[in-house]
Amino acid sequence: MSLLTWTKEQFATNISQHDREHQTIFDMVNKLHESAGGTDRSAIGKQLDALIAYVAEHFGAEESNMIKSDYADYPQHKQEHDKLVQTCLDLQKAFHAGEAEINRETTTFVADWLVNHIPNIDRRYGPAMNGAGIA
Ligand code: FEO
Repeated sequence: MSLLTWTKEQFATNISQHDREHQTIFDMVNKLHESAGGTDRSAIGKQLDALIAYVAEHFGAEESNMIKSDYADYPQHKQEHDKLVQTCLDLQKAFHAGEAEINRETTTFVADWLVNHIPNIDRRYGPAMNGAGIA
C-alpha cells in the first residue's frame, strides 16, 4: 500500500497547477519509500535528488503565485517551506557524504509534513489566488 494517496477531499487546493504538483510529489515520495532502506544507494540518491529538486521548484511556484495574489500569509508560508528545504538539503548532503541513510523513517517524516502542510497551510491560499485569476 502506498504511503501517500492524494484525494480531492483531503488535499485539493482549488489551484489545479499546485494540485498536479502535489500529486507528482506524492508519487515521488511513494517511490522513494519503496526504495528506502534498500541496498542500491545510487538509485536512492537519484530519487532523493529528483524529489528535493521538484519540491523546491513546487515551493517556488506557490510562492510566486502567493506574491502575484498579494496573499497576506505569504511570509509565514515561505518560512515553512524554507525550513523543510533546509532540512532536506542537510539530509541530502549527509547522504551523499555517506554520513546518513534514507530509510522509511525519513520518507514517513516527509509524508507527515505533507499531510499536515497541504490541508492546513496550502489550502488557505486558494481563495486569494482564485481572486487574482489563478485557478
Ligand atoms: Fe504545496 Fe506550501 O507546499
